[in-house]
Amino acid sequence: MKSLKLVIEEAEKNKIAVGHFNISNLEQLKAIARVAIKLNLPVIIGVSEGEREYIGIHHVRDLIDSYNKEHGRNGGFWLFLNADHTHSLDKVKEAVHAGFDAILFDGGRLPLEENIRQTKRTMEMARPIFKFWGRKVLVEGELGYIGSASEIRKRIPEGAAIKPEDLTKPEEAARFVKETGVDLLAPAVGNIHGMLKDAPDPALDIQRIRAIKQAVKIPLVLHGASGNTEEDLLAAIDAGISVIHISTEIRAAWRAGLEKDLKEQPEEVAPYKLMPDAIQKIEEVVEKKLRLFNKI
Ligand code: G3H
Ligand code: ZN
Repeated sequence: MKSLKLVIEEAEKNKIAVGHFNISNLEQLKAIARVAIKLNLPVIIGVSEGEREYIGIHHVRDLIDSYNKEHGRNGGFWLFLNADHTHSLDKVKEAVHAGFDAILFDGGRLPLEENIRQTKRTMEMARPIFKFWGRKVLVEGELGYIGSASEIRKRIPEGAAIKPEDLTKPEEAARFVKETGVDLLAPAVGNIHGMLKDAPDPALDIQRIRAIKQAVKIPLVLHGASGNTEEDLLAAIDAGISVIHISTEIRAAWRAGLEKDLKEQPEEVAPYKLMPDAIQKIEEVVEKKLRLFNKI
């Protein structure tokens, strides 16, 4: 099977983006996998520290492996697993040993020097795996704070970089990448985690994405893409984004579907009979995003 590195490099070359979707339960995984199988595409499943604690770090690896074993196709459907938003080096180590394909060390809120120091430590933990097992764990670094929760918001998260002077600076990004050696970079380019309740999220700074891409020359990852317009996401891909993260829209779809089923079947107690609408609504979101990101 193609490595995640190769899948992302191909996306970079073809000016498309790999979809990254967060999960914390079986229904989300089932819905995402069903769409990816139908469209025969590789996708990345992300689990943050809280999400992997809930599912179980080894359970989620096993679930992904069983989907790949049954449906994996070289060059087509494949699920990769990312240890999303990892804040401590202990958690990095845990994910490396659990066999994750990628790790995001999230030092976005740290001062630059400290972010560089801790991201370098992540690299030191991830690289030996390649020597021993011949398997490369991709390491993503984060530069700039974009809020921390995937939730429906009334306002922009406190402290998030939105003003041009607070966004990731191309020269700092170049230094960060050079000194840490990360494989992927997540910059702050006007994106926020979560989505606004009554309006689209703020516009992305497409020129900034282009300038950062030119400065670092490695694949860029766009976090917090729920709530952004389709036009903005396509322009971001064109400017150099190769992976796009979606979580809040999936969470909202899950809840809407579950509420519908609970309302329509007030006496039902079998969990699997109360999940079909949640799964279907997540599938609709995922299919729309994958078609957009892959231009199909
Ligand atoms: O890492 C997770 C993503 O960045 C999700 O962001 O909830 O705004 O889609 P989102
Ligand atoms: Zn994120």
